[in-house]
Amino acid sequence: GSSSSSRSNKSKGSISSSNDGGSGNNSGGITSSSNSGGRNSSGSSNDDDLDRKISYDKSQLRYYIEPETPDDVCMDLREGYKDLIQKDESKKDLLDDMLRWISCHRSLFSLSIPSSKSSDSDKQHCRTSQEKLNTDFISWRGCLTRLMCTPYENRDGWLLAVTRFNDTFFLCEFNTEEKIELEANCTDRQREMCYWGVKFEQYLTSATKESKPDTTGVVNNCEAFCSVVRTRLKSHSLVFAGEVDCICPQQKEYIELKTSREIYNKSQDDNFKRFKLIKWWGQSFLIGVPTIVCGFRDDDGIVHRLQKYHINMLPNLAKDLPNSWYPKVCINFLDQFLNFIKETVKDNDHRSVHLFSREPKKYNNIRYQYLGKDSEYNFIPDCDHYRHRL
Ligand code: A3P
Ligand code: MG
Ligand code: MG
Repeated sequence: GSSSSSRSNKSKGSISSSNDGGSGNNSGGITSSSNSGGRNSSGSSNDDDLDRKISYDKSQLRYYIEPETPDDVCMDLREGYKDLIQKDESKKDLLDDMLRWISCHRSLFSLSIPSSKSSDSDKQHCRTSQEKLNTDFISWRGCLTRLMCTPYENRDGWLLAVTRFNDTFFLCEFNTEEKIELEANCTDRQREMCYWGVKFEQYLTSATKESKPDTTGVVNNCEAFCSVVRTRLKSHSLVFAGEVDCICPQQKEYIELKTSREIYNKSQDDNFKRFKLIKWWGQSFLIGVPTIVCGFRDDDGIVHRLQKYHINMLPNLAKDLPNSWYPKVCINFLDQFLNFIKETVKDNDHRSVHLFSREPKKYNNIRYQYLGKDSEYNFIPDCDHYRHRL
């Protein structure tokens, strides 16, 4: 893979397991650690049969380039909308890219240090003996963010499929009926506003440290850089991946980019702190991104103001609201819910799906259902290529 701006509509991306920027130590209770030491393990030969182009390196990592006059900006986010290269949203991502990453980095999960003198028969043995991943949970970061914010979410529900295989719990989020309906009824204006967030990234990033952002190029929302982290949450070991927008070359820290409507009054300010900051915090805290740069835009899609937030400060900004949100509550909820999964999902079978769901507009109402072995929520591919490596 490369970072060329090919007009192919296939998703492209790179996944890196190093964390030069995303040290979780900056972000609080969860410590993320690099799990590959920056080695570039190649797994591309396994990917011939798959539609998505992935490279296991930093080729898609973007660099944060601060504007020359950060206090005086005018960024038109509407520009270029008609040329957008749109990701095919009808194709659900499931957990496939994570499973591919795992299958290409299987040795990183081993507790024993691989011996360079091991014989071919040893290697054969390693591959077929179903050695465990030594990891409790595998998922996308977005799924964990959603779970973690549950105690304060009073609008959206969620749907989570869980499969236990070889003593690792694989978590895969599915769209709720409400979400499917919302997407089906998405207006042109809403679609364009989704573009604004991606266009903003173009204004502040470039493909190399040395170059300036090129805002004349086509915006391609198929491309992404993801970081994979191994971390612990209390008694649980986790490996998850999430998209990282860019890295600041000076500080060597990841930066998350966001857009938000300019705040004109107190009620907008309260909503911003109550509903938006918690999601921003959860998303960046989990993967260890210390800084968020927000572009505040008007209703015509023009950003006039940039604001930098350290994610440790986000809970403080919200703490004076009545019934505010607290990181501890979020983390404890996630911990307890992962405990609940461990207590509930006992069968080790890659076809077995256990469905956990939380109904929209209802607090503390989580349903559990065993779906059996042939459900529409099955997400671990039924092919030996993956399973012998999971
Ligand atoms: P904003 O959230 O800044 O508006 P992220 O912030 O997670 O890096 O996502 C980048 C942009 O992708 C978002 O910008 C938004 O425009 C778009 N986006 C992210 N998640 C989305 C979703 N679930 N539906 C529609 N657009 C989304
Ligand atoms: Mg992003
Ligand atoms: Mg972003």
